[in-house]
Amino acid sequence: MIRARIIGCGAFLPDNVVTNDDLAKRVDTSDAWIQERTGIRQRYIAKEGQNTSDLALGAARAALTDAGIDAGEIDFVIVATTTPDRSFPSVATMVQSRLGMSHGAAFDVQAVCSGFIYGLSLADSLIRTGQARTILLIGAETMSRLLDWSDRATCVLFGDGAGAVVLQAHDGKGDNSDQGILNTRIYSDGRLHDLLYTDGGVSLSRSAGLLRMQGKEVFKHAVTNIAAAIEASAAAAGIPISAVDWFVPHQANQRILDGTARRLGIDPARVVSTVASHGNTSAASVPLALVTAVKDGRIKRGNLVLLEAMGAGFTWGACLLRW
Ligand code: UT7
Repeated sequence: MIRARIIGCGAFLPDNVVTNDDLAKRVDTSDAWIQERTGIRQRYIAKEGQNTSDLALGAARAALTDAGIDAGEIDFVIVATTTPDRSFPSVATMVQSRLGMSHGAAFDVQAVCSGFIYGLSLADSLIRTGQARTILLIGAETMSRLLDWSDRATCVLFGDGAGAVVLQAHDGKGDNSDQGILNTRIYSDGRLHDLLYTDGGVSLSRSAGLLRMQGKEVFKHAVTNIAAAIEASAAAAGIPISAVDWFVPHQANQRILDGTARRLGIDPARVVSTVASHGNTSAASVPLALVTAVKDGRIKRGNLVLLEAMGAGFTWGACLLRW
Protein backbone atom coordinates (compact mmCIF):
# COMPACT_ATOMS: atom_id res chain seq x y z
CA MET A 1 0.00 0.00 0.00
CA ILE A 2 1.31 3.44 -0.93
CA ARG A 3 1.70 5.87 1.98
CA ALA A 4 2.41 9.61 1.87
CA ARG A 5 5.36 10.15 4.20
CA ILE A 6 6.66 13.54 5.31
CA ILE A 7 10.35 13.50 4.36
CA GLY A 8 11.16 17.10 5.31
CA CYS A 9 9.67 20.22 6.85
CA GLY A 10 10.58 23.87 7.27
CA ALA A 11 9.26 27.20 8.49
CA PHE A 12 9.63 30.87 7.75
CA LEU A 13 8.64 33.83 9.92
CA PRO A 14 8.99 37.55 9.21
CA ASP A 15 11.67 39.37 11.28
CA ASN A 16 9.22 41.83 12.74
CA VAL A 17 8.00 40.79 16.22
CA VAL A 18 4.99 42.68 17.61
CA THR A 19 4.39 42.25 21.34
CA ASN A 20 1.15 42.70 23.26
CA ASP A 21 2.58 45.89 24.73
CA ASP A 22 3.17 47.20 21.19
CA LEU A 23 -0.52 46.60 20.43
CA ALA A 24 -1.59 48.26 23.68
CA LYS A 25 -0.16 51.48 22.22
CA ARG A 26 -2.57 51.20 19.26
CA VAL A 27 -5.83 49.89 20.77
CA ASP A 28 -7.44 49.74 24.22
CA THR A 29 -5.97 46.41 25.35
CA SER A 30 -3.29 45.06 27.67
CA ASP A 31 -0.68 42.33 27.79
CA ALA A 32 -2.54 40.87 30.78
CA TRP A 33 -5.90 40.63 28.93
CA ILE A 34 -4.39 39.08 25.81
CA GLN A 35 -2.33 36.52 27.73
CA GLU A 36 -5.16 35.57 30.06
CA ARG A 37 -7.82 35.21 27.34
CA THR A 38 -5.66 33.74 24.55
CA GLY A 39 -2.17 32.77 25.76
CA ILE A 40 -0.64 34.96 23.03
CA ARG A 41 2.46 36.99 23.98
CA GLN A 42 3.67 38.11 20.57
CA ARG A 43 3.17 37.56 16.86
CA TYR A 44 5.28 38.07 13.71
CA ILE A 45 3.99 40.65 11.25
CA ALA A 46 5.26 40.89 7.66
CA LYS A 47 6.62 44.29 6.67
CA GLU A 48 5.16 46.21 3.74
CA GLY A 49 6.39 44.57 0.54
CA GLN A 50 6.83 41.15 2.17
CA ASN A 51 3.98 39.04 0.85
CA THR A 52 2.50 35.58 1.38
CA SER A 53 4.52 34.17 -1.54
CA ASP A 54 7.75 35.42 0.09
CA LEU A 55 6.93 33.63 3.34
CA ALA A 56 5.79 30.52 1.44
CA LEU A 57 9.02 30.46 -0.57
CA GLY A 58 11.13 30.72 2.61
CA ALA A 59 9.30 27.78 4.18
CA ALA A 60 9.46 25.79 0.91
CA ARG A 61 13.23 26.22 0.63
CA ALA A 62 13.72 25.17 4.26
CA ALA A 63 11.54 22.07 3.74
CA LEU A 64 13.35 21.07 0.53
CA THR A 65 16.73 21.43 2.26
CA ASP A 66 15.47 19.38 5.20
CA ALA A 67 14.19 16.68 2.82
CA GLY A 68 17.49 16.75 0.93
CA ILE A 69 15.77 16.96 -2.44
CA ASP A 70 15.77 19.34 -5.35
CA ALA A 71 12.69 21.20 -6.66
CA GLY A 72 13.05 19.10 -9.82
CA GLU A 73 11.62 16.14 -7.91
CA ILE A 74 8.38 17.94 -6.93
CA ASP A 75 5.25 16.93 -8.86
CA PHE A 76 2.76 19.31 -7.21
CA VAL A 77 3.11 22.56 -5.27
CA ILE A 78 0.05 23.15 -3.09
CA VAL A 79 -0.31 26.29 -0.96
CA ALA A 80 -2.97 26.52 1.73
CA THR A 81 -3.73 30.20 2.13
CA THR A 82 -6.56 32.64 2.55
CA THR A 83 -4.33 35.69 2.05
CA PRO A 84 -2.86 35.30 -1.46
CA ASP A 85 -0.64 38.10 -2.83
CA ARG A 86 -3.17 38.61 -5.62
CA SER A 87 -6.62 37.30 -6.52
CA PHE A 88 -4.76 35.40 -9.23
CA PRO A 89 -2.48 33.76 -10.15
CA SER A 90 -2.18 31.45 -7.17
CA VAL A 91 0.57 31.78 -4.59
CA ALA A 92 1.54 28.22 -5.52
CA THR A 93 2.41 29.20 -9.11
CA MET A 94 4.56 32.08 -7.80
CA VAL A 95 6.43 29.67 -5.52
CA GLN A 96 6.72 27.16 -8.37
CA SER A 97 8.37 29.76 -10.60
CA ARG A 98 10.67 31.05 -7.86
CA LEU A 99 11.83 27.49 -7.20
CA GLY A 100 12.83 27.35 -10.87
CA MET A 101 10.18 24.79 -11.75
CA SER A 102 8.28 24.68 -15.03
CA HIS A 103 6.97 21.16 -14.64
CA GLY A 104 4.15 19.63 -12.58
CA ALA A 105 1.15 21.56 -11.30
CA ALA A 106 0.68 24.27 -8.70
CA PHE A 107 -2.50 25.56 -7.06
CA ASP A 108 -3.88 27.03 -3.84
CA VAL A 109 -6.32 25.50 -1.37
CA GLN A 110 -8.64 27.81 0.56
CA ALA A 111 -10.12 26.45 3.78
CA VAL A 112 -8.92 29.28 6.03
CA CYS A 113 -7.45 27.96 9.33
CA SER A 114 -8.13 24.35 8.27
CA GLY A 115 -6.33 24.84 4.95
CA PHE A 116 -3.25 22.83 5.84
CA ILE A 117 -5.33 19.83 7.01
CA TYR A 118 -7.40 20.03 3.81
CA GLY A 119 -4.10 20.21 1.89
CA LEU A 120 -2.79 17.11 3.66
CA SER A 121 -5.99 15.26 2.82
CA LEU A 122 -5.64 16.19 -0.85
CA ALA A 123 -1.90 15.46 -1.01
CA ASP A 124 -2.46 12.08 0.65
CA SER A 125 -5.09 11.19 -1.98
CA LEU A 126 -2.92 12.35 -4.88
CA ILE A 127 0.00 10.27 -3.65
CA ARG A 128 -1.99 7.15 -2.75
CA THR A 129 -3.76 7.15 -6.13
CA GLY A 130 -0.43 7.40 -7.92
CA GLN A 131 -1.02 10.86 -9.42
CA ALA A 132 2.03 12.25 -7.68
CA ARG A 133 5.15 10.86 -6.06
CA THR A 134 6.37 13.99 -4.31
CA ILE A 135 4.32 16.99 -3.16
CA LEU A 136 5.40 20.27 -1.60
CA LEU A 137 2.59 21.42 0.70
CA ILE A 138 2.84 24.88 2.25
CA GLY A 139 0.62 26.77 4.70
CA ALA A 140 1.34 30.50 4.32
CA GLU A 141 -0.49 33.60 5.48
CA THR A 142 -0.26 37.34 5.92
CA MET A 143 -3.33 37.59 8.14
CA SER A 144 -2.15 41.06 9.23
CA ARG A 145 -3.38 42.39 5.86
CA LEU A 146 -6.96 41.34 6.67
CA LEU A 147 -7.08 42.89 10.12
CA ASP A 148 -9.02 45.93 11.23
CA TRP A 149 -6.30 47.50 13.39
CA SER A 150 -8.92 49.48 15.31
CA ASP A 151 -10.83 46.32 16.40
CA ARG A 152 -9.19 45.11 19.62
CA ALA A 153 -11.31 41.93 19.63
CA THR A 154 -9.56 40.61 16.50
CA CYS A 155 -6.33 42.51 15.77
CA VAL A 156 -4.55 41.07 18.83
CA LEU A 157 -5.18 37.46 17.77
CA PHE A 158 -3.48 36.93 14.43
CA GLY A 159 0.03 36.78 12.98
CA ASP A 160 1.92 36.04 9.76
CA GLY A 161 4.15 33.12 8.81
CA ALA A 162 4.58 29.97 6.77
CA GLY A 163 5.35 26.29 7.27
CA ALA A 164 5.92 23.59 4.67
CA VAL A 165 6.28 19.83 4.33
CA VAL A 166 7.52 17.59 1.55
CA LEU A 167 5.41 14.45 1.18
CA GLN A 168 6.66 11.45 -0.77
CA ALA A 169 5.22 8.08 -1.76
CA HIS A 170 6.56 5.13 0.18
CA ASP A 171 5.56 1.48 0.29
CA GLY A 172 3.74 0.50 3.46
CA LYS A 173 2.16 -2.65 4.80
CA GLY A 174 -1.26 -1.04 5.09
CA ASP A 175 -1.42 -1.09 8.88
CA ASN A 176 -0.81 1.42 11.65
CA SER A 177 2.88 0.58 11.86
CA ASP A 178 3.45 2.32 8.48
CA GLN A 179 5.29 5.61 8.41
CA GLY A 180 3.27 8.42 6.81
CA ILE A 181 -0.33 9.57 6.77
CA LEU A 182 -2.62 6.90 8.24
CA ASN A 183 -5.85 8.82 7.65
CA THR A 184 -7.35 12.28 7.28
CA ARG A 185 -10.84 13.50 8.16
CA ILE A 186 -12.16 16.83 6.82
CA TYR A 187 -15.51 18.51 7.46
CA SER A 188 -17.39 21.76 6.94
CA ASP A 189 -20.70 23.33 7.92
CA GLY A 190 -21.40 26.33 5.71
CA ARG A 191 -24.42 27.34 7.76
CA LEU A 192 -21.96 28.92 10.18
CA HIS A 193 -20.14 31.05 7.60
CA ASP A 194 -21.27 34.35 9.13
CA LEU A 195 -19.54 33.83 12.48
CA LEU A 196 -16.10 34.40 10.96
CA TYR A 197 -15.69 36.08 7.58
CA THR A 198 -14.28 39.05 5.68
CA ASP A 199 -16.62 41.97 5.09
CA GLY A 200 -15.43 42.23 1.49
CA GLY A 201 -14.11 40.15 -1.39
CA VAL A 202 -13.34 40.31 -5.08
CA SER A 203 -16.91 39.75 -6.26
CA LEU A 204 -18.58 41.49 -3.34
CA SER A 205 -16.57 44.70 -3.06
CA ARG A 206 -13.59 44.50 -5.45
CA SER A 207 -11.29 44.39 -2.43
CA ALA A 208 -10.29 41.79 0.14
CA GLY A 209 -12.27 43.29 3.02
CA LEU A 210 -11.44 42.94 6.69
CA LEU A 211 -11.77 40.04 9.11
CA ARG A 212 -14.89 39.99 11.29
CA MET A 213 -15.51 37.45 14.01
CA GLN A 214 -18.02 36.62 16.71
CA GLY A 215 -15.27 35.24 18.91
CA LYS A 216 -17.39 33.75 21.66
CA GLU A 217 -19.56 31.83 19.17
CA VAL A 218 -16.52 30.53 17.28
CA PHE A 219 -14.96 29.46 20.56
CA LYS A 220 -18.05 27.42 21.49
CA HIS A 221 -17.90 25.37 18.30
CA ALA A 222 -14.11 25.01 18.25
CA VAL A 223 -13.65 22.56 21.12
CA THR A 224 -16.63 20.40 20.05
CA ASN A 225 -15.62 20.19 16.39
CA ILE A 226 -11.92 19.63 17.04
CA ALA A 227 -12.63 16.94 19.63
CA ALA A 228 -14.99 15.17 17.20
CA ALA A 229 -12.38 15.24 14.41
CA ILE A 230 -9.70 13.82 16.72
CA GLU A 231 -12.06 11.04 17.82
CA ALA A 232 -13.02 10.22 14.22
CA SER A 233 -9.40 10.04 13.11
CA ALA A 234 -8.35 7.82 16.01
CA ALA A 235 -11.42 5.59 15.51
CA ALA A 236 -10.67 5.24 11.77
CA ALA A 237 -7.21 3.95 12.69
CA GLY A 238 -8.68 1.70 15.40
CA ILE A 239 -6.49 3.21 18.11
CA PRO A 240 -7.33 4.83 21.45
CA ILE A 241 -6.60 8.55 21.70
CA SER A 242 -4.13 7.68 24.48
CA ALA A 243 -1.93 5.93 21.87
CA VAL A 244 -1.15 9.26 20.16
CA ASP A 245 2.31 10.60 21.11
CA TRP A 246 1.86 14.21 19.98
CA PHE A 247 -1.10 16.46 19.20
CA VAL A 248 -0.33 19.38 16.89
CA PRO A 249 -3.38 21.64 16.91
CA HIS A 250 -4.27 24.81 15.08
CA GLN A 251 -3.04 27.62 17.32
CA ALA A 252 -6.01 29.97 17.81
CA ASN A 253 -6.25 30.23 21.57
CA GLN A 254 -4.52 28.39 24.43
CA ARG A 255 -7.93 28.00 26.10
CA ILE A 256 -9.18 26.02 23.07
CA LEU A 257 -6.10 23.76 23.25
CA ASP A 258 -6.64 23.23 26.98
CA GLY A 259 -10.40 22.72 26.61
CA THR A 260 -9.96 20.09 23.90
CA ALA A 261 -7.29 18.27 25.91
CA ARG A 262 -9.53 18.28 28.99
CA ARG A 263 -12.54 17.00 27.07
CA LEU A 264 -10.60 14.07 25.58
CA GLY A 265 -8.45 13.32 28.63
CA ILE A 266 -5.25 14.23 26.77
CA ASP A 267 -2.13 14.98 28.83
CA PRO A 268 -1.43 18.70 28.10
CA ALA A 269 2.29 17.84 27.95
CA ARG A 270 1.49 15.96 24.70
CA VAL A 271 -0.02 19.04 23.05
CA VAL A 272 2.34 21.22 21.02
CA SER A 273 1.58 24.87 21.69
CA THR A 274 3.17 27.76 19.82
CA VAL A 275 0.28 30.19 20.21
CA ALA A 276 2.28 32.29 22.70
CA SER A 277 4.93 33.19 20.16
CA HIS A 278 3.09 32.94 16.80
CA GLY A 279 -0.51 33.96 17.55
CA ASN A 280 -3.08 32.59 15.11
CA THR A 281 -1.43 32.26 11.69
CA SER A 282 -4.43 30.52 10.07
CA ALA A 283 -3.29 27.88 7.54
CA ALA A 284 0.35 28.35 8.59
CA SER A 285 -0.28 27.52 12.22
CA VAL A 286 -0.29 23.70 12.12
CA PRO A 287 2.88 23.38 9.99
CA LEU A 288 4.64 26.06 12.08
CA ALA A 289 3.82 24.12 15.26
CA LEU A 290 4.82 20.83 13.63
CA VAL A 291 8.19 22.20 12.53
CA THR A 292 8.79 23.64 16.02
CA ALA A 293 8.23 20.27 17.71
CA VAL A 294 10.25 18.34 15.11
CA LYS A 295 13.22 20.72 15.27
CA ASP A 296 13.31 20.84 19.08
CA GLY A 297 13.37 17.03 19.15
CA ARG A 298 9.97 16.36 20.71
CA ILE A 299 8.53 14.61 17.65
CA LYS A 300 10.74 11.69 16.69
CA ARG A 301 10.64 9.17 13.85
CA GLY A 302 8.08 6.51 14.65
CA ASN A 303 5.88 8.74 16.85
CA LEU A 304 2.13 8.83 16.24
CA VAL A 305 1.15 12.46 15.57
CA LEU A 306 -2.34 13.92 15.28
CA LEU A 307 -2.74 17.26 13.53
CA GLU A 308 -6.04 19.14 13.75
CA ALA A 309 -7.60 22.48 12.92
CA MET A 310 -10.84 24.42 12.77
CA GLY A 311 -11.61 27.68 11.03
CA ALA A 312 -13.99 29.87 9.09
CA GLY A 313 -16.70 28.25 7.02
CA PHE A 314 -16.78 26.49 9.41
CA THR A 315 -14.20 24.01 8.25
CA TRP A 316 -12.36 21.54 10.46
CA GLY A 317 -10.45 18.31 10.31
CA ALA A 318 -7.69 16.05 11.56
CA CYS A 319 -4.81 14.02 10.18
CA LEU A 320 -3.21 11.05 11.91
CA LEU A 321 0.29 10.14 10.81
CA ARG A 322 3.29 8.17 11.93
CA TRP A 323 6.32 10.46 11.78
O1 UT7 B 1 -8.77 30.53 13.90
C1 UT7 B 1 -10.14 30.47 13.69
C2 UT7 B 1 -10.83 30.21 14.91
N1 UT7 B 1 -10.84 31.36 15.79
C3 UT7 B 1 -10.94 31.15 17.08
O2 UT7 B 1 -10.90 30.01 17.48
C4 UT7 B 1 -11.18 32.30 18.01
C5 UT7 B 1 -12.17 31.86 19.05
N2 UT7 B 1 -12.50 32.88 20.03
C6 UT7 B 1 -11.64 33.29 20.99
O3 UT7 B 1 -10.51 32.87 21.01
C7 UT7 B 1 -12.16 34.22 22.06
O4 UT7 B 1 -13.56 34.29 21.99
C8 UT7 B 1 -11.56 35.63 22.00
C9 UT7 B 1 -10.10 35.60 22.40
C10 UT7 B 1 -11.72 36.18 20.60
C11 UT7 B 1 -12.28 36.55 22.98
O5 UT7 B 1 -12.24 36.02 24.29
P1 UT7 B 1 -13.55 35.97 25.19
O6 UT7 B 1 -13.15 35.45 26.50
O7 UT7 B 1 -14.59 35.22 24.40
O8 UT7 B 1 -13.91 37.50 25.37
P2 UT7 B 1 -15.22 38.28 24.92
O9 UT7 B 1 -15.31 38.39 23.44
O10 UT7 B 1 -16.38 37.70 25.65
O11 UT7 B 1 -14.93 39.69 25.54
C12 UT7 B 1 -14.87 39.91 26.95
C13 UT7 B 1 -14.60 41.36 27.19
C14 UT7 B 1 -15.53 42.29 26.42
O12 UT7 B 1 -15.82 43.40 27.24
P3 UT7 B 1 -17.21 43.49 28.03
O13 UT7 B 1 -18.29 43.39 26.99
O14 UT7 B 1 -17.20 42.31 28.98
O15 UT7 B 1 -17.11 44.81 28.71
C15 UT7 B 1 -14.68 42.74 25.25
O16 UT7 B 1 -15.06 44.01 24.79
O17 UT7 B 1 -13.26 41.68 26.77
C16 UT7 B 1 -13.31 42.80 25.89
N3 UT7 B 1 -12.24 42.67 24.93
C17 UT7 B 1 -10.99 43.10 25.18
N4 UT7 B 1 -10.45 43.73 26.23
C18 UT7 B 1 -9.15 44.02 26.18
C19 UT7 B 1 -12.26 42.10 23.70
N5 UT7 B 1 -11.05 42.16 23.16
C20 UT7 B 1 -10.25 42.78 24.04
C21 UT7 B 1 -8.89 43.13 24.04
N6 UT7 B 1 -8.39 43.75 25.12
N7 UT7 B 1 -8.07 42.85 23.00
